[in-house]
Amino acid sequence: MSKPSLDIVVLISGSGSNLQAIIDAVDTGKLHANIKAVISNRPNVKGLERAQSAGIPAITLDHTQFASREAFDQQLILEIEQYQPELIILAGFMRILTDEFVNHFKGRMLNIHPSLLPEFRGLNTHQRALEAGVKQHGVSVHYVSNELDGGPLVLQAVIDVNALDTAESLQQRIHQQEHIIYPMAIEWVAQHRLEVIEQQVYLDKQPLESPPKWINNKLIN
Ligand code: GRF
Repeated sequence: MSKPSLDIVVLISGSGSNLQAIIDAVDTGKLHANIKAVISNRPNVKGLERAQSAGIPAITLDHTQFASREAFDQQLILEIEQYQPELIILAGFMRILTDEFVNHFKGRMLNIHPSLLPEFRGLNTHQRALEAGVKQHGVSVHYVSNELDGGPLVLQAVIDVNALDTAESLQQRIHQQEHIIYPMAIEWVAQHRLEVIEQQVYLDKQPLESPPKWINNKLIN
């Protein structure tokens, strides 16, 4: 009997290294998902090449060609719905989404953000973490809500900040963690282990008080 498989659409804006990690996790059987399509709001980005190389429909929906954010988001909903995904994956999708878009996919859209949310929402998280002198930094997978980088947390990876770290070194080490925890969280959805109801995340039917943490290659609940 075939394993359960989750239909997903991945939204990107750039390099797509998280997309690649998801593709690789599917290929190696760690993630039971069908990547139905990859959609980028920027033309000619590396992530689109990665999708094409993997035989996945790679679609460009250039936001600069739309008169308004609302018009773009409405078209994006139509594009995504053609594939009837069960889950939408934001993987470096650098657009602020309208409430209409977020509400349309409520409870079935994940994002990954390079900080230990609720710390450092928004951009330049690694530089800001360094300037704040934090001892630990990390990355968060969360459901998307109407609040920017504010939706319910699912899973975080945590690393120690070293005296010699720069924004670039942190970014590099955080990226490695992203590539582990994003496929892991998506697999939880594929296995029906993860759900969100009214802003409360449940893992294996248990409400999460705080997200599980991936630290030194181990999952700590
Ligand atoms: C990642 O750092 C992710 O956390 C953030 O955007 C970046 C995307 O990187 N949301 P990539 O395109 O997957 O390499």
